[in-house]
Amino acid sequence: MGEAHARALAERGADVLMADLDGAELEVSAKQIAADTGRRTETVVLDVTSPDAGERVRSAIEAAFGRLDIVVHNAGIMHDWKTLAETPVENLQPYLDVNVLGPYAITRTLMPLLQAGPAGRIVFINSQWGQLPDGHSYGYMVAKAAQLGMMKALASEFVSQGVLINAVAPGAVATRMVPDEVYDIEVAAVPLGRLGQPGEIAAAVAFLASDAAGFLAGQTLAVNGGALIPSA
Ligand SMILES: NC(=O)c1ccc[n+]([C@@H]2O[C@H](COP(=O)([O-])OP(=O)(O)OC[C@H]3O[C@@H](n4cnc5c(N)ncnc54)[C@H](O)[C@@H]3O)[C@@H](O)[C@H]2O)c1
Repeated sequence: MGEAHARALAERGADVLMADLDGAELEVSAKQIAADTGRRTETVVLDVTSPDAGERVRSAIEAAFGRLDIVVHNAGIMHDWKTLAETPVENLQPYLDVNVLGPYAITRTLMPLLQAGPAGRIVFINSQWGQLPDGHSYGYMVAKAAQLGMMKALASEFVSQGVLINAVAPGAVATRMVPDEVYDIEVAAVPLGRLGQPGEIAAAVAFLASDAAGFLAGQTLAVNGGALIPSA
């Protein structure tokens, strides 16, 4: 999905720094987006949970672009479908690191760059399970719900400084996070009867990053094929 967010922002005129654990895939995506959009794309291979992640992003941005307008926190790890009995407390840590503590530390480092610009934006890629957790996959559920709380707290502190912070909560989207063995279960849970496409989530990210969303802060845009509305 990260590639789709980068592409959507580049198509709307942004130069983009893309960061991920997986350098090979990142390079290919960045080159293709630059070729397709004519925008500049840079990459940095990093682990969002490492203590120097924010500094590495900041120095790459300062070297390449000299300014920062939009941050999209997209990194995530797959849920495991396990019950409480199957989930010792230490199993929650990686989910909290990737979804909450890493993005918190990175936001802390990057905030001065956003504050220096005219209209900074942060978009968290959350989940329908952050909005309404199911009783399994406790690391994923707890971390995504906590991420929404963090998003609102940050939005509250920084809205008066013109930095607008929101989230997109996707339902099931056709990425490798929905492997073949759970594909049918995921589709059955979407009232629209299909998985979302990464570009449909990226369109919401691009909206929240745009001038059209200039009066929105602390909100979660649910893009889930009708999953969290009552069925008729
Ligand atoms: N696919 C879905 O159905 C779905 C639904 C709701 C929310 N989401 C969320 O969307 C986001 C994107 O997921 P996706 O579906 O594209 O899955 P994905 O596995 O294709 O992408 C996740 C990306 O995060 C990267 N990543 C993981 N840990 C990292 C770390 N420590 N440091 C840096 N990068 C790291 C991975 O390398 C990968 O490229 C995630 O936050 C996920 O929780 C996905």
